[in-house]
This record gives sequence, structure tokens and C-alpha cells, in this order.
Amino acid sequence: MGGHFTLLTHLLLLLLRSLPGVCGFPFGPVLDLDVTPRTTVYFQDLLGCQQFSRRSLNYNTLLLEDDSGVLYVGARGALYALDTSNISKPVNLMIDWRASAEQKKQCLNKGKDNQTECYNHIRFLQRYNETHLYVCGTNAFRPLCAYIDAEHFNFSSGFEEGRDRCPYDPAKGYTGLLVDGEMFSASQYEFRSSPDIRRNFPFPTLRTEEAPTRWLLEADFVSSVLLRESVNSSVGDDDKIYFFFTERSQEQMAYPSQTRVARVARICKGDWGGQRTLQRKWTSFLKARLVCSVPDYELHLNVLRNVFVLEGQDVHSTVFYGVFGLEWRNIKASAVCQYSLSDIQRAFEGPYMEVQDSKWRQYTGKVPEPRPGSCITDAHRSKGINSSRDLPDNVLTFARRHPLMSTQVHPIGRRPLLFKRSVNYVKMAVHQVTALDGHAYSVLFLGTDEGWLHRAVEVGDQMHIIEELQLFETPQPVVTMVISPRQRSVYVGSNSALLRVPLSSCRRYTSCFECVLARDPFCGWDGALCVDISSRTNRSRLTQDMQKGNRACDNVPGAVVQRRRTVMSGDDVLLQCEMRSNLATPRWTLDGSDFQVYGLDSGHRVGTDGLLLIGARPDQSGDYRCYALENDVWALVRLYSVRVLPDMPFPIGPTVTTGASSTTTGPASPSVSPSVPTERPLPSPPVPLPPGPEFQTYRHMEAMYISLVAVLGGLCLVLTVVLLYVSFCTRGVYQRCKNSQQGLPESGVPHMELKTISSHCNGRRESRHGRRSLSVSNMDDMGDGFLQIVPGVGSPSKSPPPPAPPLPMPPPLPCSEYASSEYTNGMSATLPSVLRKMNGNSYVLLRQPGDPEGSTSPLYHSFTEELNRILEKRKHTQLDPNPPDESSV
Ligand SMILES: *[C@@H]1O[C@H](CO)[C@@H](O)[C@H](O)[C@H]1NC(C)=O
Ligand SMILES: *[C@@H]1O[C@H](CO)[C@@H](O)[C@H](O)[C@H]1NC(C)=O
Ligand SMILES: *[C@@H]1O[C@H](CO)[C@@H](O)[C@H](O)[C@H]1NC(C)=O
Ligand SMILES: *[C@@H]1O[C@H](CO)[C@@H](O)[C@H](O)[C@H]1NC(C)=O
Ligand SMILES: *[C@@H]1O[C@H](CO)[C@@H](O)[C@H](O)[C@H]1NC(C)=O
Ligand SMILES: *[C@@H]1O[C@H](CO)[C@@H](O)[C@H](O)[C@H]1NC(C)=O
Ligand SMILES: *[C@@H]1O[C@H](CO)[C@@H](O)[C@H](O)[C@H]1NC(C)=O
Repeated sequence: MGGHFTLLTHLLLLLLRSLPGVCGFPFGPVLDLDVTPRTTVYFQDLLGCQQFSRRSLNYNTLLLEDDSGVLYVGARGALYALDTSNISKPVNLMIDWRASAEQKKQCLNKGKDNQTECYNHIRFLQRYNETHLYVCGTNAFRPLCAYIDAEHFNFSSGFEEGRDRCPYDPAKGYTGLLVDGEMFSASQYEFRSSPDIRRNFPFPTLRTEEAPTRWLLEADFVSSVLLRESVNSSVGDDDKIYFFFTERSQEQMAYPSQTRVARVARICKGDWGGQRTLQRKWTSFLKARLVCSVPDYELHLNVLRNVFVLEGQDVHSTVFYGVFGLEWRNIKASAVCQYSLSDIQRAFEGPYMEVQDSKWRQYTGKVPEPRPGSCITDAHRSKGINSSRDLPDNVLTFARRHPLMSTQVHPIGRRPLLFKRSVNYVKMAVHQVTALDGHAYSVLFLGTDEGWLHRAVEVGDQMHIIEELQLFETPQPVVTMVISPRQRSVYVGSNSALLRVPLSSCRRYTSCFECVLARDPFCGWDGALCVDISSRTNRSRLTQDMQKGNRACDNVPGAVVQRRRTVMSGDDVLLQCEMRSNLATPRWTLDGSDFQVYGLDSGHRVGTDGLLLIGARPDQSGDYRCYALENDVWALVRLYSVRVLPDMPFPIGPTVTTGASSTTTGPASPSVSPSVPTERPLPSPPVPLPPGPEFQTYRHMEAMYISLVAVLGGLCLVLTVVLLYVSFCTRGVYQRCKNSQQGLPESGVPHMELKTISSHCNGRRESRHGRRSLSVSNMDDMGDGFLQIVPGVGSPSKSPPPPAPPLPMPPPLPCSEYASSEYTNGMSATLPSVLRKMNGNSYVLLRQPGDPEGSTSPLYHSFTEELNRILEKRKHTQLDPNPPDESSV
């Protein structure tokens, strides 16, 4: 437990360091500890994706043959051969391979899960030779393997026993390779057996040793790769196979509660085992620790989740990317560490570890010759050792007891490439692309456990997450991922479907600013469109700026629609302006000059979604421009001409509201009682106006009024639910909170929106809520804006929004473990679950799904406009800058 506590302390430190804007830390850490994805793209806004799903589930195993344009897919109870150019096309190549009823019955009798385990999950699918594939399935806890005739896509022969080649359990860590007709695999195959790395065929089969020294301890295998190090080797080296896994640690760890350790192990492909010692065991097995730690914090990410191998020009420039997580499953955090092959080789050539007094220590004694665990090279052959069987006994005895190396493999740069809290990356792939500057950038595709894909690129020393894409409507882990350079796509498998996602979607960026600020190495601005640079042969006219991301684009004012607002003095005016980029900061100018946005008495508030003028004065008339400030670039987003008419004691007159331009004219009604907003006459209808004034009968007005009351009532209700929910979340029990959130997505209730509005539902609850928001907005340095959470999508106008609990925003930022850990440490409980970093400042970002410009989300738009109108028509109500203290929450 002590270690756990220490970890929490580290996390707290991390959190503090990652909020420099809040805590005022003067230093900037080299490693950005919470990289914010620049844009968030929801499922309904994905571009150019194709989906494949059939009756089968669990699209777990992919075999891409890019040159022939075939993607083989192993799912639960079926195999498919898909056309890579269109995976949605009807398939005619399919193999039905379900577990027999008899086998299923036996599986159930063994007490296995009838929902998951008693099916045939395809776990292995690779090419065997030019004509055949080899496949293994769990077959309801009785694994089988078979050859597939690739041309006809049918089984070419009977089934083979798969017990030694494929795990029984569909969820067990497993990796395997088929190389030159030899099969290598690693898993804990049977229920009670120890984990093992095997050569399955040809004869003789080889395994890892269990006594006197156990080579693998509860190993959970993640990945394996063959590196052809024999090619052009000056020393007559052998090809090697590297295995990546997490296992129980043998050596002393920094914290007693840290029990797992990430490893790389390797074997030589030409190993045949020993003659007497290590008979039918590997003579070349060596393993070393893979370190992935956040420097300065002693935060070790010990659990390896996935490895991607990026092979370079030659085998020696191979780079390994590892995705790591924390040992505690309830704490979400991920790091990507990058390793070079030479560092791994150096570890295997370094000193060994040995058990001394039942502790692992570095071995300092004499090492026999030839070096134990090495592959057979020319040096061996010159001594008459032609194969592992010729190795002397003393070498093999040493190898048997010294599988672990003392040197640890540190990541390139001795720090993670990327650290992300609140997100669990589970799968990754990397694609290299040459940008316009001639530099080759590695684009990381990171799949999360909730079905999101982050696209990240390393620029300078920092990772930049270009975007986060919601790939699946219902949260589910990404289980497999493969990149097709030829199709310029990434194929992503999950439990419910297989998806083809383009490597980039440049046309999502509609302006030069967006295109350039995105810093997507695939995209460039051609003067009119954001295009994939590979689609142009003449690139001299394309604009891209990977290094700074702020190369000047012409700011064309014509592209921004000018909106007019005419309001009465004393009205509240909300000028909407939402940032598409999570990294942008809103900046407003009035008649061309930047104005003071802070301060209580300024008469306005700036929020993430707009500018609120509170009790507009005639001298506040003018041209308001909203800019998105990002990377020192001011991009004009909105332009408003606001005219504030002097207050005149007019009687209630007709109100003309044109929805499109949001122009409101006509005198407002005098306020009756500002403190009871729902009882004031509200002449402005909350819905788009009916066709003509003849509909403006008293009856109609009454109906409007009632519906408005209903809306406001609904709003109160939702706020209550939100408040209760928030207090429930922050109050503590993380697990319960998390569960409730996991249950939510199915309800189909979309996300919430944080608004800076001054509408009051009144009452104690409200002020409590206001207070809660206040603490958040103070973190923003934004003054004490009255932030309220309103449902982003409710019913469009009349009926109250559904009183559903709030669905937190996309990737898993919800009531996170950070929140709970902080809470237990007495810090603000609301903070981390809603914070997103923007240029060093922390902002609240609870976003509405869809395009903020409103094109894809009409409901949202009408609701906001409606509120807007309510606000504008309402007389200045009291805005209590110091709401009463909240009592308990
Ligand atoms: C892919 O195939 C589906 C089904 O035949 C078809 O509807 C779709 O238009 C195709 N997509 C492309 C890009 O050809
Ligand atoms: C699995 O077993 C449970 C309880 O034993 C049963 O209710 C359920 O219908 C079974 N499901 C299937 C798919 O057989
Ligand atoms: C590939 O392997 C299969 C199964 O062993 C065999 O039947 C077939 O002849 C082989 N094909 C070639 C081209 O060697
Ligand atoms: C596979 O399909 C081909 C073509 O339909 C057929 O000729 C062959 O006999 C099939 N093989 C087996 C083992 O059924
Ligand atoms: C091996 O060396 C030859 C000749 O120097 C070269 O052409 C070839 O590309 C090299 N192969 C690899 C994989 O480096
Ligand atoms: C190793 O191979 C060489 C050349 O093929 C041969 O002369 C020698 O006897 C072999 N050594 C053993 C131990 O088999
Ligand atoms: C590319 O376009 C530029 C500007 O239109 C032109 O000057 C240049 O000659 C073109 N280059 C090629 C190789 O076509």
C-alpha cells in the first residue's frame, strides 16, 4: 500500500506540474505531461471511413497483404478475406468456423463463460507459404489449427491439434510468428501451465526452462517480431526473434507494491537446443527490462500494452515503440516509449543477473566462453561449433541459470515520447511521411480502450496530437490495428466491427489557418482547399508549417459572416464564438482594439463559447471580432456589429427576430421582477417565429410563454441532476462513478456544454452550482463568470430537455481516478475531470458533439439561439458576484 500511496503522490506532483497556468509554476517541463488533442472529432463527423461487420463479433486478428490488396480477418467463429480498397463490399470469401455444439457443451461443463469463452476465437492467422495460410482458433477451450488454401479461401486439409500453439483462453496474452515454415509462439497455453516461448514446428520443438531457474514468471505476452540480422552480417550472425511482455518482477523494485515489469526477450532463429544440457530448450534465451518512466517523478509505467516495430532502411535502424500503462487498472494513464535496437542489443551483451541469497544481483564472476545466450556466429564456427548442439555444457549450464540481463533498456531520450493521463492507449501503429519541409515525420496512431484513435506527430521535442477521433459509437477497446501504406488507411478492429480509417482527412480543414495550424504532415493548403500533399505532383504552391504551425495565411475577412445585433440598453447579449481547436484561446476586439477581458466590473465575461455583455450599455456598441489565438496566430472566427439602443419606456411591442442573422430589433419590455425570472413577461418566443404576425395572437403568446416556462423548468431539472451527479462523482467512490458512466453511452444522451450565460433558474441549488463552477472558472483565470452546465442537446424547443445524467465528454476524461486521488488528498475535486489544457492555461471544455459552427447539430444550435434570445430580451437581472457559500457538496 505504501507504494500505492507514493504513486498517488507522484500523480499529484504530475498533475500540479501539468497545470502551470493554474499553479503558477514558472518552469516548463521538457515533457508535456498532458498533451491535449488539438481537435475532437465525433463519430458522426468521421470522414471517409468504411466499416465491416457481420454476425460474428471480435474482429481480433488481421493479416494484411497490401500488395495483393487483401485483408484477412479472423473473428469469432469466422474468417473473411476482404478487399482492402473497400471493406464494406459484400464478401464472397468467408470461412464459417464455429465451435461444434458438442465442443461448446464440454466447454460449458468445464464452467467456462458461455458469453465469451465457449466460442471459436481466431487467435493466429499468418501466411505459411505462397499458397497457404495457417490459422489457429480457441475452439471453445480446445484449440485447433489448420491450413487455408488462400486462393479458394477454404480449409485445405483436416484440423491439427492446437494445444501447444494457441491458448485456450481467448483473452490470454499471446503472440506468434510463422517464419520460413517454422512457427514460434508465446503464451500461457493451458489453464494451469506456466507461460512459455516455443518453437512449435518443425521437430524438435523448443521451450523455455522452468527449473532450477524459471525463465518466465506469469508473463503476459504482447508482441513479437523477427529481425533478419543475418542479412549482410559481417560476423555471420543469426536472425533473431524478439518477444515483448510484462511479467512478475524478480529483481528488487523501487516500490514494494510494484510487482510487474516490462521485458524484451530474444531468441536466435537457428537455435536447436542443447545436446545434454538444455535439451529441447532454448540455448539463446535472454531477457532484459524495458524502462518507461517519467523523469523527475519516479513514475514507472510497468505494464506493456502493445509494441509497434518500425523497421528502417536496414535492420539496425529498427525502432520499437512501446505503449505502457500503470499497474493499477483503475488509474488511467499511458506513455509511449521509443527504443532503439542497438540499446536492446547492448543490454543483451552486458552483464548478467544471478540469484544470490534468493535475491537477484548483478553477476560479477567469470563468464564462460563462448558467451552464453549468444547466437552461433563465425566466431563459434571457427571453433568448430556449428550449431547450438555443439555448445559446451558449462556454457549451457550458465545460460540456464542466467536468463536475465542486468542492463536495463532505457527509452530514446530517457523519457517517454508521449505521456497522457486519463487515457488508456492499448494499440498503436506508426507511419512515416515526408512533409513539405523534406523531413520525415512519424505519425503515431494510438487506439484507446474506449474506441478512440489519437493521431500524434513528434515535432521538435514535443508530441503534438493532431486530433482524436471517435471510431465507435459505443465505447469499446481497440483490439487490433494495421496500417496499409498502399491504401493510405489504417484498419482498426474492435469487438463489434472492423473499420477502415484514412491516414488523414485534410478536407476536414476548411480554411488556411485550420489546415496549417493542424500541423498534419499529410495536409497542405493549396490556396483554396486543404489537400493531401501526396495528391499533388507540383507542391510548390502548397502551404504547410510542421515546425511552427503558424506560417501566415491571408486572413480573408470575406470568409467570416458579419452578424448584426441590435439590443436594448440593459439587455444581456451573448456573442457566440466557439473554437474548433482545443488549443486555441478566444480573443475579442472591440472596434479593432483588444479589450480588457478580466475584472468584475468590465460588464462582460469571456467564456470558451462566446462573449457575454451583461446589461449592455450604449457605449458598448461597435464591431466585436472574435479571434482564435493559437500558436501566435490570430484567426478571425466571428464578427458582430452590436448596436445598443438607449432604454426607452415603450409599451410591449411586436418583436421581430430573424433566426438566421440573429438580429433582434424593437423595444424590450420593462422588467417586472428581476429576481423571479420565470414570472416576468417574456415577449420573445423561444422558438423560431411563425410565418406572419397574424399568428401573434394572445393565445399563441400564451402557448409560447408556457413552453418557455417548461424549458426553464426543464433546465432547472437538468441542472439538479447534473449537480447531484457531480456531487456524487466527486464525493468519492471512483468505481461506482465509473460504472455509472460506462452505463451511460447506451442511453444515447449526448454530451454537455459548458456555457457562460447569466440565465438563472434561481434558488439555492443554482447558487451552489454557480459556486462550483466558480472554482473552475477561477482556475481559468477568467474571473468569476457564471458558468452553468446546460444540456447541449435537449429537445429542440418546447419540451424540457431529458433529465438524463450528464454524459462526460469523449475520451475518458470523466470523473477520473485523478479526481478521486485528488479528492482523497483534499484538493479540488472538480478539477481534473473537466480540465483541458490550452496554451498553458487550463480551460473548461465540455463540448457538444459535432461541429461548433452548428452545421451538423441543428438541435444544439436552436437551443443556444433560443437561450440567446431569452437572454437578450430579459432585463438586466442581478448578477450576484458572490453567490452564497455552498454548504456541503
Ligand atoms: C464500397 O462498397 C459498398 C457496398 O458495395 C458501396 O456502397 C460503397 O459505395 C463502396 N465504397 C466505395 C468507396 O467504393
Ligand atoms: C449463458 O448462461 C446464462 C446463465 O447460465 C444464461 O442465462 C444465458 O442465456 C446463457 N447464454 C447463452 C448465449 O447461452
Ligand atoms: C504450402 O503448404 C501446404 C500445406 O503444407 C502444402 O500443401 C502446399 O503444397 C505448400 N505450397 C507450396 C507452394 O509449397
Ligand atoms: C476448396 O475450394 C475449391 C474450389 O471451390 C475446391 O476445388 C476444393 O476442393 C476445396 N477444397 C476443400 C478441401 O474442400
Ligand atoms: C546487403 O548488401 C548488398 C550489397 O552490399 C546490398 O545491395 C543490399 O541492399 C544489402 N541488404 C540489406 C538488407 O541491407
Ligand atoms: C562444423 O562444420 C565444419 C564445416 O562444415 C566441419 O568441418 C566440422 O566438422 C563441423 N563441426 C562439428 C562439431 O560438427
Ligand atoms: C509548379 O508550379 C509553379 C507555380 O505554378 C511553377 O512555377 C512551377 O514551374 C511548377 N513546377 C513544375 C515542376 O511543374
